[in-house]
Amino acid sequence: MPIVLGIESSCDETAAALVDGKRRIVAQRIASQDDAHRPYGGVVPEIAARAHAERIAPLVEAVLADAGMTLDDVDAIAATAGPGLIGGVMVGLVTAKALAMAADKPLLAVNHLEGHALSPRLADLALQFPYLLLLVSGGHCQVLRVEGVGQYRRLATTIDDALGEAFDKTAKILGLGFPGGPAVERLAREGDPKAVPLPRPLLGSAEPHFSFAGLKSAVLRAKQAMDRRPGLDPGPLAVDRLSASDPGLRRDDGSYTEADIAAAFQQAALDCVIDRTRRALEGSEGLTALVVAGGVAANQTIRAGLEGLAAQFGLPFVAPPLALCTDNAAMIAWAGQERLALADFAPDPLDIAARPRWPLDPDAAPVRGAGVKA
Ligand code: KG4
Ligand code: ZN
Repeated sequence: MPIVLGIESSCDETAAALVDGKRRIVAQRIASQDDAHRPYGGVVPEIAARAHAERIAPLVEAVLADAGMTLDDVDAIAATAGPGLIGGVMVGLVTAKALAMAADKPLLAVNHLEGHALSPRLADLALQFPYLLLLVSGGHCQVLRVEGVGQYRRLATTIDDALGEAFDKTAKILGLGFPGGPAVERLAREGDPKAVPLPRPLLGSAEPHFSFAGLKSAVLRAKQAMDRRPGLDPGPLAVDRLSASDPGLRRDDGSYTEADIAAAFQQAALDCVIDRTRRALEGSEGLTALVVAGGVAANQTIRAGLEGLAAQFGLPFVAPPLALCTDNAAMIAWAGQERLALADFAPDPLDIAARPRWPLDPDAAPVRGAGVKA
């Protein structure tokens, strides 16, 4: 049974994992860099690249030791080759190349998004193609029809911010620190989503895409209004941009708290996600499941909303366990396993380049204003 070593270094997690052909994670380790980036309120590419360079070799040694293996026991070496912060991607890819060359093993240059896209199959033995995938992370917000390994059709993408980015910026506006998504989710539990009117960009739109920039700006205005005049509502700017679903839902005295803003933001984001995913489901045939992946898939409110939506369409809902949602190396090793199992498998050449941008569906038409997060 083949064993694949996976390496991930595209953002701020340095990770290594060993995954076998029976979908078992034999060993895995993740070194988070949160502490290094926290003072800056976001990921600093140069700091990330240096941290990856310091950590990657000991991490690979550690997972091999955890599994009681050496490189001789490994059948292929898979590393994220993009998209991502290029310095970090290069550290992981060059490490994989060196190991592949030294141990004379095949190299697999994996698209990080493919890692997320196939990760649900690592966790769910029954998941078959084709499935509809909502890929929501810090850099991406896409709906993909996953037809098979290497076969992805992008049905929708964001025309501005990614969903995780909107969570992170909301956290920053609310002073919740870094990383933002989990902090917004925690605070939202204490808030009233109806206390602050926020827009739902592109809700009900005929085009299939996502937009979160207007929502983020409305969060900023709501917070500024709260700071200026505690207890008062965010004023006409935010109200003007209300979606039809909202007016009249505020408290009588119009007051709200940071927790209310967090809850209102999360609810508005969820409404957008459900509306856009519903649109994609309505236009799709022959699906086996609705699947969510990427860091924002760790959000319980979003998971629950998508589960309800899948049920409306009579589809199973598949979401990987939380540890497989955020960046990890097991998903990269698993993508390597999926490629190894293809009849026409071919390893990548040792001179393959790292790619800061790497769309999963290169044939997808460009979209208006797309901030081109691959
Ligand atoms: O997939 P990921 O680990 O890295 C990228 O490839 O971008 O996703 C990270 C993103 C961040 O924006 C983070 O705030 C968000 O996922 N995230 C969450 C939650 N956990 C992580 N967003 C909302 N709720 C969460 N519980
Ligand atoms: Zn990711």
